[in-house]
Amino acid sequence: MKKFNITIAGGGSTFTPGIILMLLDYLDEFPIDTIKLYDNDEDRQKTIADACRILLEERAPGVTLTAGTDPEEAFTDVDFVMAHIRVGKYAMREQDEKIPLKHGVLGQETCGPGGIAYGMRSIPAVLELVDYMEKYSPDAWMLNYSNPAAIVAEATRRLRPDSKILNICDMPIGIEELIAKNLGLSSRKEFEVDYYGLNHFGWWTDIRDKEGNTLMPQVIQHVSENGYATDGSSELEQQASWNSTLKKAKDIQALDPSTIPNTYLKYYFFPDYEVSNADPEHTRANEVMEGREKFIFSECQAIIDKGTAADTALTIDEHASYIVDLAKAIAFNTKERMLMIVENNGAILNFDPAAMVEIPCIVGSKGPEKLVVGEIPQFQKSLMEQQAGVEKLVVGAFEEKSYHKLWQALILSRTVPSASVAKDILDDLIEANRGYWPELT
Ligand code: NAD
Ligand code: G6P
Ligand code: MN
Repeated sequence: MKKFNITIAGGGSTFTPGIILMLLDYLDEFPIDTIKLYDNDEDRQKTIADACRILLEERAPGVTLTAGTDPEEAFTDVDFVMAHIRVGKYAMREQDEKIPLKHGVLGQETCGPGGIAYGMRSIPAVLELVDYMEKYSPDAWMLNYSNPAAIVAEATRRLRPDSKILNICDMPIGIEELIAKNLGLSSRKEFEVDYYGLNHFGWWTDIRDKEGNTLMPQVIQHVSENGYATDGSSELEQQASWNSTLKKAKDIQALDPSTIPNTYLKYYFFPDYEVSNADPEHTRANEVMEGREKFIFSECQAIIDKGTAADTALTIDEHASYIVDLAKAIAFNTKERMLMIVENNGAILNFDPAAMVEIPCIVGSKGPEKLVVGEIPQFQKSLMEQQAGVEKLVVGAFEEKSYHKLWQALILSRTVPSASVAKDILDDLIEANRGYWPELT
């Protein structure tokens, strides 16, 4: 059986150990020769790389791990690039979240002004990764988690139309695991879903067991009463802010009782609630720095200090399983049904063919084949048109270095109340993003 070579771009990411552990778990089905970590922050990556090397020597001595900052070395002779970069790291996520809040607008990693700011930073960096891959391993596929996935996907659709990049999100599968738990099933893989929307902006319209029986009435009843809460033991529910997000899904679900929503819709429907519940001095970026980032880096440092990963608390996460399933689908033509962010091109009949939508696809060695969604209702259609417009204006602003287009993007976002507030936020974001964004005129 062929052994694959994989580059993890953003090797210093908090998600790298979880992905490597997941890859090890799948070695029988998806054999690996070499994992190459690539990052532009050598020091940050080194802690993760040194710890993962010890872990691999103990658990999978046949797998080689390299780490570096040289693109030629990192991207040569690889089959897959798994990308999860965060341009500007958590320091800039903190700015994305805190600047809008200063103006009374919600601050979020991927939604509203914060997501727009992050998008402007991510676009050139993800394009650079695509170009490295095409130069050094033209047959490889990039499986991209780097956010904001909606804006990144629109940018690669428009600016690298022939590239083999697949943009994905773990939120639907995270929610599906909670749904499975509430249904008493062992995992989301026991059912099949119908879903449509944009990234972080979508709805499930059906959930069926493997015999084709709908489970939707039960699911709707649970979500309408409890949101996506379970018995409280899930990893997401252990974190206070995610716990409240999962519960808030109850209020989103009430807006369209025949479907169940992506949790991210709360930022568009309840922005006032989000602002009044936020602490402008301590946002999710601070929680992640104090929580996940500290945990991952201290666990990695402990492995390095002890010289063994035997008793490490690092674990596989669901996030990683999705990217590995996707790699397997392409490598072995498994034709797995997966939600992917793809060009609409007729899948949603009454929606812009040139918008990037998140819908079920059958994934095989040629990539995703879209399933037809059909017509969507007025409410969702109009909301999605507005939000897809925001994403397109951001990419247009990047391409043309246009202040006006970026201002229009902010004005169009449902999260921003007026053009003057949009301008105030934009001017502060420009200041904070110097060196990351193109100079806008
Ligand atoms: P992190 O800051 O821990 O890691 C990101 C790494 O990327 C850092 O080590 C950083 O140095 C590196 N980096 C930044 N710019 C780079 C560049 N131009 N080239 C190479 N490396 C670069 O972040 P994290 O919290 O682990 O998240 C990583 C990414 O994954 C983020 O974009 C996050 O939003 C995304 N993510 C996406 C999903 C999804 O559903 N699509 C889920 C989880 C995380
Ligand atoms: C979900 C989303 C990701 C997002 C992440 C944020 O997994 O799908 O797109 O990056 O949540 O989680 P965090 O713990 O970093 O706030
Ligand atoms: Mn996501």
